[in-house]
Amino acid sequence: MFNLNWIRKLIFWERDYGAQLAPAPMALRPVRATSPYGTSIWSVGGGKGGVGKSLVASNLALSLSKQGKKVLLVDADLGAANLHTFLGVEGGKGALSSFLKDEISDIGSLISKTPFPNLDLISGAKDSLDVADVRNAQVTRLREALKKVEYDYAVLDIGPGTSSNLLDMFLMGNEGIILSTPEPTTIENNYRFLKCLFLRKIKSIADSQEDGLLNGMLQKIFSDKWSQRVKTVADIVEQISMLDFDQGRMLKEDLAATSISMIMNQTKRNEDAEMGDSIRKACTDYFGMDIGYLGSVGYEETVSESVRLRRPLVMHYSASRAARSIEGCLEKLMNRANKTQPVTIQF
Ligand SMILES: Nc1ncnc2c1ncn2[C@@H]1O[C@H](COP(=O)(O)OP(=O)(O)OP(=O)(O)O)[C@@H](O)[C@H]1O
Ligand SMILES: [Mg+2]
Repeated sequence: MFNLNWIRKLIFWERDYGAQLAPAPMALRPVRATSPYGTSIWSVGGGKGGVGKSLVASNLALSLSKQGKKVLLVDADLGAANLHTFLGVEGGKGALSSFLKDEISDIGSLISKTPFPNLDLISGAKDSLDVADVRNAQVTRLREALKKVEYDYAVLDIGPGTSSNLLDMFLMGNEGIILSTPEPTTIENNYRFLKCLFLRKIKSIADSQEDGLLNGMLQKIFSDKWSQRVKTVADIVEQISMLDFDQGRMLKEDLAATSISMIMNQTKRNEDAEMGDSIRKACTDYFGMDIGYLGSVGYEETVSESVRLRRPLVMHYSASRAARSIEGCLEKLMNRANKTQPVTIQF
């Protein structure tokens, strides 16, 4: 096991994360949800750029489609949309950016067929769109629109970062998949991502309450007198429980209902792959959450070749170790998702 004590420092509450306590869209109360058509939304994201989010999002979507599932792949990376390149197709009819800018009202008009059976695509921004320019209401609108599409799965590739809009897009998913690499910088950014994500979620749970009780308690525990006691996300839950047992229990249940897992990509040594389990343990300790570890994908020349030649890995290099690892991660994710199937439809 690795000594990840240095991570402890990162988990402490930092004042700047107070930004996540800005009002969250009401419709994003993050209770496990499914659409009336049974579409499961999977969000692929994380705190760091260039780690393999688009590679994994596109290949997970392709693997699902190979299994006969009807899949919609959505390029929600507004800063650097490139899923079409991973699939080796042109940019498509329209772009998600025009939906988010309100230029297009029907998301269905942006869906393009791909050469792959069962897989359709919504391309990302044609010109990069600053995620900060997307209004909260548009994120809610996107979620509402995605629940109306008739697919088994919608897989979202979300750009790197911790801005509120990105976190809200990630929280749209029934399953959130965080991409990591063994680099300390990626791990550091992903811990920040997780911390901001849970804070964002706490805020959206609070905003979804009409009586404002939880918001009032949050204000109290972040007041100067109390804030010394609040160092981690788990501390917030504990302090809320001390103030009001039922609110604390509800918060714990809602937080636990977020299904988040991680894939360790670009591993080069056995120890790299083993880091996933250590990180999982650290998350349980500091966030009080179970972050599932789906497995590792090794660093392989075949991967760069598949991207360079625009020939998707799981289709054209299906016997490669990387393709088999991604399919192994998919299997674990499906098992995990099946175990925690939502019991209610909540939109
Ligand atoms: N397992 C791997 N082995 C070798 N190369 C890899 C592997 N995973 C990713 N790469 C390389 O890293 C590049 C970046 O991957 P990708 O575009 O999926 O990252 P990203 O996280 O989506 O980046 P961004 O944050 O910019 O959207 C790919 O073009 C690919 O060449
Ligand atoms: Mg990407």
